[in-house]
This record gives sequence, C-alpha cells and structure tokens, in this order.
Amino acid sequence: MTDIKVTLKDGSNIDNTDWNNLRFGVYFSDHVFMSDFKNGEWGDDRIIPYGPMQVDPGMCTLHYGQTIFEGLKAFPDKNGGVNLFRPDKNAARLNHSGAMVCIPAFDENLFVDAIKKLVKIDKKWIPQKRGESLYLRPVLYGSSNFLGVHASEEYKLIIMTSPVGSYYAEGLNPVDILVSDTYVRAVKGGLGSAKTAANYAASMLGGAKAKELGYAQVLWLDGVSRSFIDEVGAMNIMFQIGDELVTPSLERGAILNGVTRDTVLTLAKDWGMKVRERDITIDEILKANTDGTLKEVFGTGTAAVISPVGKLTYKGKDLLINGGKIGNLAQKMYDTITGLQYGEIEDTHGWIQHFEV
Ligand code: COI
Repeated sequence: MTDIKVTLKDGSNIDNTDWNNLRFGVYFSDHVFMSDFKNGEWGDDRIIPYGPMQVDPGMCTLHYGQTIFEGLKAFPDKNGGVNLFRPDKNAARLNHSGAMVCIPAFDENLFVDAIKKLVKIDKKWIPQKRGESLYLRPVLYGSSNFLGVHASEEYKLIIMTSPVGSYYAEGLNPVDILVSDTYVRAVKGGLGSAKTAANYAASMLGGAKAKELGYAQVLWLDGVSRSFIDEVGAMNIMFQIGDELVTPSLERGAILNGVTRDTVLTLAKDWGMKVRERDITIDEILKANTDGTLKEVFGTGTAAVISPVGKLTYKGKDLLINGGKIGNLAQKMYDTITGLQYGEIEDTHGWIQHFEV
C-alpha cells in the first residue's frame, strides 16, 4: 500500500450527531483522505482532520465546474468488521467521469485502500442500525487559479465520510416523480454519463419546481427528442413491463452507469427474469400503464438503494404504479442487496470487500 500519512484530529464531532435522525449527508465524520495532483503526478496522500479549506477566489472549478464525485457506502457486517460494496466499480467510474472532463486518472487500488484506511480511523462513525451506513463521498476537482477556459493544471481528491440513514424522507415507501417535459438534464454527446457537477446543476431548477408541486424527484427525458427516458439524477430507473425488467441503455451516453443498476440487472438475470437494456419512450410507459402491463417502477442508486415509484406524472396525466405500493420485485431487490451489504446473504459474485476495523 502507498504510504498515507495520518494526522489525527484533537477531539471528535461525534457527540454533535443526532444518531436517532441521521437523514442523508447532514453529518461529516472527523477525518478526510486527501491527495494532490501537481507537476503531472498524484502525491502527498494523507488523512487529516475534516475542516474548512482555504480557496482562492480565482480557483477554476468555482468558475467552470471541472469537478467529479463518487458515492459508495461502508456497512457493518453482521459477523463483525466492515463491508464495502463493489468499490472497484466506483473507482473505475471516477476515472471514466474524469476522462470526460479532462481530469487525470487516480490509481484505482489506492482509491480503495485509502477508503479502507479512512473507514478504519473513523470506525466509531459507522452506524450500527439496519438501513444505515457510512456514506463515502470522494470529490475530485481542478484546484489551479486562473480565468481562462481550459483544464486545470493541479487537482485535489478529497474523500469524506458521512453517517447516513435513507436518502428519501419516504424511506422504502413509494415516491412520486414528475416526468419533465420542460427542462433537460443531459444530451447525447454531453456529460450525462459522468458524475460531474454540471448534471446536478442542470437538475436544480426542474427539481425545485417539482418539489413545489409535491414530487420527490424528476424523471428526465432525453434532451433532443424529449421522448426517451434517461434517469432520475439521484438514481437510475427500472420498469417491470409484463415479466420483463427494462431499463434505459447506457449506449446513448446520457445516463450514469449505476453500480446498483448493474447489481439489479445481474440479480434479475440470476433469478431467471428477462432483462433488457434498451431505449424506452415515455409513450411506451403510458401505453403499458393503460393496458395493465406496467407492473412496477423503481429507482436504483447507492444513496437511494431501491426506491419504488408510486406515481409518475407526465403532461398533467397521473400514472398510479402498482396501486401506489411497493411491488414484490422492488422489495426482493431491496432485501437481497441490503442482505448482501450487511453480510447476511452469501456473496456469490465477489461484490463485497470485507475488512476488519
Ligand atoms: C449516490 O447515489 O451515491 C449519489 O451520488 C446520488 C446523489 C446523492 C447525488
């Protein structure tokens, strides 16, 4: 393992955490991992106390958004120790996102090793309740100071951790989602497949308007024809139509290659379901709802895990999904994925990286 220097915090913020009401991304643990890219290489890997950083007003990322992030979780294993769920996929996706916005690649093994070391140091921050976990948020951004529009020369990778409960206030209860025909998140040829700030900034206005109308999230359609379904932004989307599980394909390059998305597709195949990644139009979903073949709709994501959709609204028309209740498939996916993550179900795919803390 590369040398990671450790500077421990004096004291801890842990007592300022409301462990009975964690919510998502509200509390931050005591330490972060940090690495700097300078003179063409990554180095000075260190774990230091979490705290404010000094930033120059001319720092390019504040102006041009050359930044990417990841999201993964550490779980307490039922027999002791900690489980990371498919962190290699996050490491690979970090570098995919980076390549899309001219950010130099970070060593994928070091990424996972750094996470393990950080989690060990802040092990007392790992929530022990079922449904809760220690969320890991790596962020990597251009840190040079200039105003010309070009890639940064220097970068910083910071990995912070946050004890979290469920992403949605609804928990595993179905959420209502507005299908946007006004705003778009990403277009083919754009940054939709990268976990970069621009996609999330593009979702803010549509998301805020949807929230005013009582919806939890927006389902984005493709930015050109406004007919193909893309994703929700905080999660990918899945439809059970008849006995088939269908989800938008990665090929158009406009959606994120979700780790939970891939997990769900693999499990569904294991269980003998027909699975298809393909273009899906919103009209097809309306028709399937009318003819009764649309059985379930649910989102998949690291933060959200599995989030059943109870209602989809498109151009003023409400589609009630599965009577507004969680469906059997979504429930089985949630139970299986969380069972694997907490070490309750045998991992036959090599998805879990277990370590002692
Ligand atoms: C995640 O699922 O980890 C995400 O990054 C989604 C969201 C919180 C931005």
